[in-house]
Amino acid sequence: MRIIGIACSPRKGKSTFYALETCLQAVKVAAPEVETTLIDLSEMKINGCIACGKCLKVLECSQKDDFLKMIPILSDPKLAGLVVATPVYFGSMTSQCKAFLDRCVMFRRNGFLLRNKVGGVIAVGGVRNGGQELAIRAVQAAMLVQDMVVVSEGQPTSHYGAALWSGHPDGIEKDSLGLETARNLGKRVSEVAARMHGS
Ligand SMILES: Cc1cc2nc3c(=O)[nH]c(=O)nc-3n(C[C@H](O)[C@H](O)[C@H](O)COP(=O)(O)O)c2cc1C
Repeated sequence: MRIIGIACSPRKGKSTFYALETCLQAVKVAAPEVETTLIDLSEMKINGCIACGKCLKVLECSQKDDFLKMIPILSDPKLAGLVVATPVYFGSMTSQCKAFLDRCVMFRRNGFLLRNKVGGVIAVGGVRNGGQELAIRAVQAAMLVQDMVVVSEGQPTSHYGAALWSGHPDGIEKDSLGLETARNLGKRVSEVAARMHGS
């Protein structure tokens, strides 16, 4: 069983990466046997979907960019869960995140390959209430269209996912409430993934 995290900041190794790392570490604590992989979009070039229609016929894309690396990873039957982590940009996700999600249309068009995969979302804003929940809901909408099983960050906080604040005066490392939601999300994604995909 594998859980993949996608960090959708254009900035390498910054607060979104840290939040996602925290979440995936919590997956390992809850379920050490689960394989976790963090994919950082800041190191990749993924264009927006150009609606060429090629993937209506085959699980292939006409655009030869870094999304091609994602195809075997996301269509692997071992995939049990996907955690998407995005900075909040103008109350929504980054363009890198949107491009990634749009390109995932190929999995829907070729047998709903993401169906029943557990979906968790992390949003990191520069301000405490900068639209984290709006960004989370926008990503969750794309997950629902893929027939994924969207989860909250689970108990005890249990709202819409993990919401963090990078603008904390002492850094995101001191956003204890936000980090708790990231850890809870990792635990919840692994718990539901085990129920749905465990042997
Ligand atoms: C174009 C742009 C728009 C932003 N819009 C918001 C926003 O609406 N709400 C918010 O809280 N922070 C906003 N921010 C701040 C980022 O969400 C914040 O700096 C975040 O930590 C960036 O993630 P990173 O450190 O992983 O790159 C914005 C930043 C940029 C560059």
